[in-house]
Amino acid sequence: MIARIRAWALGVGQAAADWMEVRTGVVSMLEHFLYEPVPKRGMWLYTLGSATLFLIVLQFLTGILLLFYYVPTTDEAWNSIYYIMTEAYFGLLIRGIHFWSANVLIVVVGLHMLRTFFSGAYKAPRELNWVVGVVLILLVTVLAFTGYALRWDAEGFWAWEVGIKIGSYTPFVGSYVATFLLGGDTVGPATLSRVFAIHVWLLPALLAPLIGIHLYLLRKHGEFGSEFEYTKRLAELRERKQIEEYALYEEGDESPRE
Ligand code: HEM
Repeated sequence: MIARIRAWALGVGQAAADWMEVRTGVVSMLEHFLYEPVPKRGMWLYTLGSATLFLIVLQFLTGILLLFYYVPTTDEAWNSIYYIMTEAYFGLLIRGIHFWSANVLIVVVGLHMLRTFFSGAYKAPRELNWVVGVVLILLVTVLAFTGYALRWDAEGFWAWEVGIKIGSYTPFVGSYVATFLLGGDTVGPATLSRVFAIHVWLLPALLAPLIGIHLYLLRKHGEFGSEFEYTKRLAELRERKQIEEYALYEEGDESPRE
């Protein structure tokens, strides 16, 4: 019985996929998008980019849901978060996911960066993708820092007060950027409005197209492969060269080199 239901469900699924494929080509597009060959050695490390992508999409989705209740004013910010956690349906869960996946995101994006560095994936012709990655990690860090202030509790408040103070000592631009971010000389209502605009609008608007460019460049060049894979390929090339040289020697053109 179960086997028959499963066969029926598979048949219906296949028919729906075929119907969609004929009209939009979306199935073959997805197949092309989802399958990217990766080197056999260290293959799990090649999932870190996709894990980062998953977490950042999760941040966007849970962030949109939090916006239904969050109020970006100094009087109401913390109260609205308290309301989300105690009264709103699934509020505790959604805020929990947003908070924890933000923390995990920072770790995972760092590990992804380390993987690309140690496998040499920053080398030509992938330098531009590395540069896009550097901009992405900076934006993700600012995303986390601005999110911290939105809670408007003592921790977030003082983290901003101290963080901005440190940043303001950056030569030439530091004090201007600090005044712009604070909306004055010290953390206050104007700061919260600006931080909110940056966290909710500016950064996602910059991150989305940059992630698109990152993935486009990845697809254009493919995965670089690990150091080991590279070594193996070099050994194969050397072996082929030796065979060719030996073939020349057999023909009597020149003597084989050691
Ligand atoms: C929002 C942040 C990021 C997202 C969503 C993201 C996503 C991805 C994905 C899905 C891949 C393919 C799978 C993989 O190799 O793991 C990839 C590859 C790559 N990423 Fe990222 N990434 C991000 C940040 C970074 C950072 C911070 C760097 C380095 C500074 C970086 C550099 C690269 C490079 C060079 C590749 C090509 C890897 C290769 O050819 O082997 N990415 N990224």
